[in-house]
Amino acid sequence: MSSRLLVTGGAGFIGANFVLGRVAAGDQVVNLDKLTYAGNLQSLAPVEKASGYTFVHGGIEDRELVSRLLTEYRPEAVVHFAAESHVDRSILGPESFVMTNVVGTFRLLDATLEHWGSLSGSARDRFRFLHVSTDEVYGSLAPTDAAFHENTPYSPNSPYSASKAGSDHLVRAYHHTYGLPTLTTNCSNNYGPLQFPEKLIPLMVLNALNGKPLPVYGDGLNVRDWLYVGDHCAAIATVLAKGRSGETYNVGGLNEMPNIAVVQTICDILDELRPGVTSRRALITYVKDRPGHDRRYAIDCRKLTAELGWKPQETFSSGIRRTIAWYLENMPWVEAITSGAYREWIDRNYVGRETTAVTGSAQ
Ligand SMILES: NC(=O)c1ccc[n+]([C@@H]2O[C@H](COP(=O)([O-])OP(=O)(O)OC[C@H]3O[C@@H](n4cnc5c(N)ncnc54)[C@H](O)[C@@H]3O)[C@@H](O)[C@H]2O)c1
Repeated sequence: MSSRLLVTGGAGFIGANFVLGRVAAGDQVVNLDKLTYAGNLQSLAPVEKASGYTFVHGGIEDRELVSRLLTEYRPEAVVHFAAESHVDRSILGPESFVMTNVVGTFRLLDATLEHWGSLSGSARDRFRFLHVSTDEVYGSLAPTDAAFHENTPYSPNSPYSASKAGSDHLVRAYHHTYGLPTLTTNCSNNYGPLQFPEKLIPLMVLNALNGKPLPVYGDGLNVRDWLYVGDHCAAIATVLAKGRSGETYNVGGLNEMPNIAVVQTICDILDELRPGVTSRRALITYVKDRPGHDRRYAIDCRKLTAELGWKPQETFSSGIRRTIAWYLENMPWVEAITSGAYREWIDRNYVGRETTAVTGSAQ
């Protein structure tokens, strides 16, 4: 059965993968995105003319706009991806993280609560607010610690994870205090097509292809659990369809790896697909560590598997091959971002414009 969804941040990495999948599956999607540096309408080109897709340029902190969209489109669920998401940027400039992730989520929740209060019968019973969050809210693990589970106490260490923790707490409070039917997913590191080239995996793929140094923080032994973005989108769809209101579900890839092993794998696959004179491993350069760099994340996602039947389909070795192949086949997408042409286009098109909804078009 198809659904009507209000998606926030659907022009970002995970949001765009989710929107493409949902529109293809027959859902009606309204995508509210502010188009920060991380938002990219090119990622949504395959659906921009689809009748089930509407793009709205605007911020989640604009309560009036959110209320208008909820009234006009009457979505059955809000799926909330919009966020400032890059830890390094949060260290250099934390304020936008607080404004979007905490204040923006608060305003979105508040407008949604008002809308939900106006519903009755099955529309009210079926309605869900799904909040997409991160495993980084749980802090850092020692090498032998048990993986994060849904009841692990919060212990965020970066301005990014602290702001996401704040948003998680607000979602929890809106369920507990006002009864808003919420769902929260806390997910490990994603990788896959359409990821902005500032993040580890696309950065390493592109630098390695261009013969540039591959900067690895510290000793390279920080461990992350890697989840293929398509598996994450499937988990979100599963939680939306079957999750219990008020619950939190951890989402993980069952792929714990030190960063250096991730980078070496990328070098080896590129050497195989695009052989060079020397191994790309020679490009690896250790650089000064990120301040407060969490040592290890690992996620226990047994609740999601046992209760709702989801499990990841990709291993790291299958997912990273698909990802590298995607970047090799989509260099125009990458070049438009890295050349600055995309940003210039966005500035020309959107700065100073009124917020408007454009049905069936991302123009
Ligand atoms: N990328 C990961 O590995 C990962 C892992 C776990 C959880 N998450 C969470 O998943 C969500 C999506 O992550 P991503 O990697 O796709 O992020 P991203 O940075 O690629 O995209 C964020 C999107 O949100 C939009 N946005 C930012 N501020 C906004 C605002 N105020 N109003 C409306 N739109 C706004 C941006 O334009 C962009 O399109 C985030 O909430 C993030 O915390 C990400």
